[in-house]
Amino acid sequence: MALRLESTGAVGAELRGIDLRHIDEQTFESIRRAWIDHSVLLFRDQTLSNDELVDFSRRFGSLDRAPEQENGRCCVEGYPEIYVISNVLRDGVPIGSLGAGEAVWHVDMSFLVEPPMASMLYAIEIPPTGGDTSFCNMYTALETLPPELRQRLHGMGLKHDATYNSGGFVRKGVQPTDDPRKSPGTVHPVIARHPESGRELLYLGRRRNAWLVGLDLPESEALLDAIWAHVEHRPDLSWTHHWRVGDLILWDNRCTMHRRDAFSASARRLMHRTQIKGKPVLVA
Ligand code: SIN
Repeated sequence: MALRLESTGAVGAELRGIDLRHIDEQTFESIRRAWIDHSVLLFRDQTLSNDELVDFSRRFGSLDRAPEQENGRCCVEGYPEIYVISNVLRDGVPIGSLGAGEAVWHVDMSFLVEPPMASMLYAIEIPPTGGDTSFCNMYTALETLPPELRQRLHGMGLKHDATYNSGGFVRKGVQPTDDPRKSPGTVHPVIARHPESGRELLYLGRRRNAWLVGLDLPESEALLDAIWAHVEHRPDLSWTHHWRVGDLILWDNRCTMHRRDAFSASARRLMHRTQIKGKPVLVA
């Protein structure tokens, strides 16, 4: 089936005219192909129940259990795979993660040995302004990296920290430390190869508590600052999505990073997220 597909810019595409509750195998294969080709897919005007969100997510593979939120809650009741991202309070307690603040650039759960290969975010309640989500194309980030920086990174491992989430909250059960050499986490190749597209990419995870293994801390910090200065705030690398209720975004968690703008704490934002299990990215 030919998909109605419109590129969204530096990364991603919108797929039009698809109701994710009713897709046959051939359409699913086209969606999967488009996801590998474009890294981020937007589907508008969806009306998914929790079961339908889980069913569509499962077509890509086994799902991770939702991680425990910083407030100790875990998931939508009865749906261990659905993670709640929200600033909404119930009886004074947040029903979800990340509050109303900024969520900085990150790859979901890259501190794990096997981070999810994909995440899906479904918009249920959206604030009138703010809370936009941006995606960064890490293939292009590598392609545009100055050659001397690329040369220095060649063959290096990067420690991905498990202490803080993208909202700056300490993860449940973790003893906070700001020394990345001692913090819990996992080392991945900083220049990696996507296991399905075969393309090389820059695999950064997140800036806070990152460490280029084998370098002195000041040297690692200086090199990481230079790399992050290259990837941040560049319209040629990223695309920003302004959400509507019923939007579903599926992203490839191996070759993109994402961040979210802050929004008014007095507005409500409620998103449901699922994650598809993955394997580590490969050494390039
Ligand atoms: C996330 O980082 O997974 C959530 C992004 C968002 O809330 O838009």
